[in-house]
Amino acid sequence: MTVEAGDGMAQLAVPIDRSRPYVVTGAGSGIGQAVTELLLQLDAEVVTVDLAASSPAPQDRHVSGNVAETATWQRVVDLVGRLSDDGAAGLITCAGAIVVRDLATTPPEDFERLFRVNALGVLHGIQRLVPAMAERRDGSVVAVASVDSLFAEDRMSAYATSKGALLQMIRSAAVEHARHGVRINAVCPGAIDTPLLRQHLNESSNPDAARRRLEGVTPAGRLLSPLEIAHLLIFLGSPLASAISGAAIVADGGLTSTYDFRLED
Ligand SMILES: NC(=O)c1ccc[n+]([C@@H]2O[C@H](COP(=O)([O-])OP(=O)(O)OC[C@H]3O[C@@H](n4cnc5c(N)ncnc54)[C@H](O)[C@@H]3O)[C@@H](O)[C@H]2O)c1
Repeated sequence: MTVEAGDGMAQLAVPIDRSRPYVVTGAGSGIGQAVTELLLQLDAEVVTVDLAASSPAPQDRHVSGNVAETATWQRVVDLVGRLSDDGAAGLITCAGAIVVRDLATTPPEDFERLFRVNALGVLHGIQRLVPAMAERRDGSVVAVASVDSLFAEDRMSAYATSKGALLQMIRSAAVEHARHGVRINAVCPGAIDTPLLRQHLNESSNPDAARRRLEGVTPAGRLLSPLEIAHLLIFLGSPLASAISGAAIVADGGLTSTYDFRLED
């Protein structure tokens, strides 16, 4: 069966926890927005976080703030506490930022900023939300990492450094919390058609040609949709994925399974 945008999981009886809220970061756009919409369709309680003032969640379930700041997470913990005595059912981290620049000229401050958002922004969430999950011996964290957690990409050194660190942090957290009944995993997307990717393409000299090239080097022959990643995030956060812990699940349409050595188009 081919999964088309809008199809699939929303029609399935996905065994997600509806008694405690899921916390989704980066919910104002792209992958985070798609997973929030899907959770709402599945009748889950959702608390969202984003720099943006709103998300698909009801306004009283949204925290507008920076995931790199502990004050934001205090507001998240307070909101989760008002909704449930048992903490959050899950944490899905999608907030992320990029810098497109040669390593030689990228200011160390940019490396530091991306590390704070892409890596420490997830650490804060784990440190604030996982203890209650561990107490109940039930819960999950799914972090959106990147294929850049595993491979280097031209002019993306600050981003790849932060996403590589994120993956190692996720594996470390998974090892320590598996025995507490909390599963922690990373998803490593390839090229997903979102505002972030369009920002990346727009930094090239010919954005349309860059998009065609990206589609061409992806064996699937297309950019993936945010909803396709949302399906995976919800699966990993659900008991259907009870065997999966500390994994880095690549979701890239085959991008990193091969190399571009085609003799013909
Ligand atoms: N789009 C891709 O091709 C791709 C590929 C691999 C990984 N990713 C990762 O997927 C995740 C989601 O990206 P997307 O493509 O949906 O991007 P997006 O720009 O559409 O959405 C990212 C959201 O994160 C929010 N955000 C950014 N910095 C934040 C901060 N400091 N605090 C709170 N919110 C913040 C933004 O406001 C935005 O709403 C990111 O972690 C990104 O690195 C994306």
